[in-house]
Amino acid sequence: MSNSSWHPQSWRQFKALQQPEWPDLRALEEVYAHLSRYPPLVFAGEVRDLKAHLGEVARGDAFLLQGGDCVESFSDFTANAIRDKLKVLLQMAVILTHGLSKPVIKVGRIAGQFAKPRSSPMEVQDGVSLPSFRGESVNDPFFSEDARIPDPRRLERAYFQSASTINLLRAFTNGGFADLRQLHHWNQDFVAQSPQGQRYALLADQLGETLRFMKAIGIDGGQHGSVLHEVEYFTSHEALILEYESALTRCDSLTGDFYDCSAHMLWIGERTRQLDGAHVEFLRGVKNPIGVKIGPTVTVAGILGLCDRLNPDNEPGRLTLIGRFGHQRIGQALPPLLRGLAPEGRSIAWICDPMHGNTYEAPSRIKTRSMDHILSELKSFFSIHQAEGTVPGGVHFELTGDNVTECLGGSHEIREEHLTERYETTCDPRLNVAQSLDVAFLVAEILRGSV
Ligand code: TRP
Ligand code: MN
Repeated sequence: MSNSSWHPQSWRQFKALQQPEWPDLRALEEVYAHLSRYPPLVFAGEVRDLKAHLGEVARGDAFLLQGGDCVESFSDFTANAIRDKLKVLLQMAVILTHGLSKPVIKVGRIAGQFAKPRSSPMEVQDGVSLPSFRGESVNDPFFSEDARIPDPRRLERAYFQSASTINLLRAFTNGGFADLRQLHHWNQDFVAQSPQGQRYALLADQLGETLRFMKAIGIDGGQHGSVLHEVEYFTSHEALILEYESALTRCDSLTGDFYDCSAHMLWIGERTRQLDGAHVEFLRGVKNPIGVKIGPTVTVAGILGLCDRLNPDNEPGRLTLIGRFGHQRIGQALPPLLRGLAPEGRSIAWICDPMHGNTYEAPSRIKTRSMDHILSELKSFFSIHQAEGTVPGGVHFELTGDNVTECLGGSHEIREEHLTERYETTCDPRLNVAQSLDVAFLVAEILRGSV
């Protein structure tokens, strides 16, 4: 298990959980060969920039905002959908940058977030048992025998969709759409009249005034032009299907190091983070920043094991731990971890995912999450870090740029009877735009000490 034995396919000698059973292995090999030759989606230099930023996050000099779909879909693949997801993340970033007075590192769950781990390999509906939906890079959500057969050609389709998505994101983030002087345009019509939308518009007014003042005194254009005009935006997804990730791994010609060029940041899920498993084996060898999702069962020894395997040189920004404890369990689970790790001196960016520990079935049997629970886990996360003297590095959300009704609550309240109105996710329930603005304002308030 020494580093010298690592290569992009060394994970094949380890146990890989949550992999589809591909019936057509020849097609899989063909897809692997294609993906291995296609251009990378990200450049190693960008990945190093993100790692440096995450090092700042671990020290408390920057704040991570990570968010996007639970799972991307092949059908909801339009310029408007990509634009609207970017809009809401930019709005949240503005709220947080203003509230925290520190840089906000913007990372989307996008351009590759296609695969899902499942609690059961089979799904039963009305007595019929079929393979579970594992994300559209594997099979189709429709409940029929044909639709659920894992098809490796979908990995290739996911690659091309990701390429097209990242292309548009790069155009938007560098081409003027994300210019700070456009911040009124990110507020969408359907939230403009909501309390959150109005609050955002007020902030946008204030910032617009400040920017005009700065321009009047000469701080505009020139050296500061690109700061206002462009936004640094990174991509991330769960590194679940190892065929896809390893086929997109490239040796960087500048450094000779390997990078998983499917995204800037990859994370390992709570269900696939075994120290002797294939996912940890694969990711230990690539130089990207790595996230690991951790739930209430994780131990200090388990985290030290992850640090040893994934970050043996204790490089700042390499390892981000994304806690998804649940609002009722974070108070018990997180403090002993922070205390146990304090004397170890490991560089870790601590992030709060207040979504995945708070999923439940409403009485109507619809899978949902409540804003009360999400906000409660966030508050606990920040107060625990404050009490322990550690750094709360950032937040991780499942959200969308649409006006969906998937999570309950918020100051423009979604109640249970609304859930069926626009419930569009193919996996977990996401925050809508108004709810996303709500959480951004709340985090900003907490960190300013006014909650
Ligand atoms: N470039 C700066 C940043 O990324 C400022 C900025 C430009 C910005 N456009 C933005 C910040 C949109 C938030 C949202 O922070
Ligand atoms: Mn999810």
